Amino acid sequence: MNRKEFITDITMAGTAAMIIPIVAKVNLFGTGIQRKLRIGVIGCGSVAGMYLPHLTKSQYVEVVSVCDIKSERAKARAAEFKVPNHYGHIDQMLEGAEFDLFVNLTDMQEHGRLNKQALLKGKHVWSEKPLANTYKEGNDLLQLSKKQNVRLWGAPAVVNSPQFVFMAKQISEGKLGKIAAAHGRYGHLGPSWSAFFYEKLGGSLPDLGVYNLTTLSGLLGPVKSVMAMTNILTPQRTVDDKGTIKVEEEDNASVLMEHYNGAISHVMCGFNYFDPYGHEGSGQDKPTVSVIGTRGAMHLIGYDWMPFAVEMATLENEESRKFALDTGYYAWEEGASVVSKAIIENYEPLINVEHSLHVLEIIEAARKSQNTGRRIQLKSKFPYSIIK
Ligand SMILES: NC(=O)c1ccc[n+]([C@@H]2O[C@H](COP(=O)([O-])OP(=O)(O)OC[C@H]3O[C@@H](n4cnc5c(N)ncnc54)[C@H](O)[C@@H]3O)[C@@H](O)[C@H]2O)c1
Repeated sequence: MNRKEFITDITMAGTAAMIIPIVAKVNLFGTGIQRKLRIGVIGCGSVAGMYLPHLTKSQYVEVVSVCDIKSERAKARAAEFKVPNHYGHIDQMLEGAEFDLFVNLTDMQEHGRLNKQALLKGKHVWSEKPLANTYKEGNDLLQLSKKQNVRLWGAPAVVNSPQFVFMAKQISEGKLGKIAAAHGRYGHLGPSWSAFFYEKLGGSLPDLGVYNLTTLSGLLGPVKSVMAMTNILTPQRTVDDKGTIKVEEEDNASVLMEHYNGAISHVMCGFNYFDPYGHEGSGQDKPTVSVIGTRGAMHLIGYDWMPFAVEMATLENEESRKFALDTGYYAWEEGASVVSKAIIENYEPLINVEHSLHVLEIIEAARKSQNTGRRIQLKSKFPYSIIK
């Protein structure tokens, strides 16, 4: 089954499942269990409202539990999506109804700790970004997942978009010549609902910059060194859950990256960007990512998490044209559904945990560069290129 057929299956599954229950073969790395992949979702806030509709439409998945420390949220999501079990604490969920994949949609600061608890209980893990708060913590989680013989993955899912695939192919086929430079930008005026975005280990780099950092390292390859400037432009915010708070992590960042292939790229992100398209990004049709080489240049139209097309001009075709106009069934919230299918069918998805860890190291390096005024060398790499 190709990708398009799979997603058609997912979107059709809502209707089909009412008539014939579809039972997929869950391979679970050799156990050969015959059933759907059972999912436990932790964190029933804003992004759960995007994940749960996607997951509950997948024919491969059965959402068995939802959990939130604000237990009324778990109860409400369980009722909304007909999930049989809801819990107010991770310990209760891990001791409760059996499941295979832990989907972590909690505050950024909680990811590493909760992911570790789930891995220790032998669960596969899909985590919203960042999958841990430091590269070391993330790498420890990866080693733990190997020891437990389960899988670990982290958002974002940008490498799955047809536009990313198109751009990566142009680069690997040499259509742009030698790549010299690239740029990505993403910002808005900042989330208004939760304080964690602005507290220590929150910030605009792991929340927003992470998309462009994943896209540019995915396109240009691993990063050798980083220089960055970050600051706090708005020192106080008012948010729904805690009222007026002090902003403790960067809300404005510019990161320069030197890739192993010689290209130098730049990402800017922040919570102080006027954006006429708002947090949802509806109708965004302007380029946000550009890649320039010796024989051509291309620009991604829309955000990398919700792209619409790629504009490209080359030595052979100097007039700029739009390509990859079909957005397919890609959706930024598809990550947990896509890795569920990969677990069932026992293949490697495009999203790679070492890539997520590399991006985490870039974020840490950017902060270190700001604090020291120095250029920071990176240690990690990931399998490149992503699209052969
Ligand atoms: N909101 C979006 O549009 C969006 C988009 C993409 C990614 N994300 C990412 O998703 C994650 C969650 O963001 P959000 O906007 O949904 O935040 P949110 O505040 O709306 O939801 C987070 C939920 O997690 C719960 N929670 C926190 N700690 C917990 C714990 N220890 N155990 C159980 N539940 C706990 C909170 O009570 C809250 O209900 C973040 O990593 C964010 O970067 C959000």
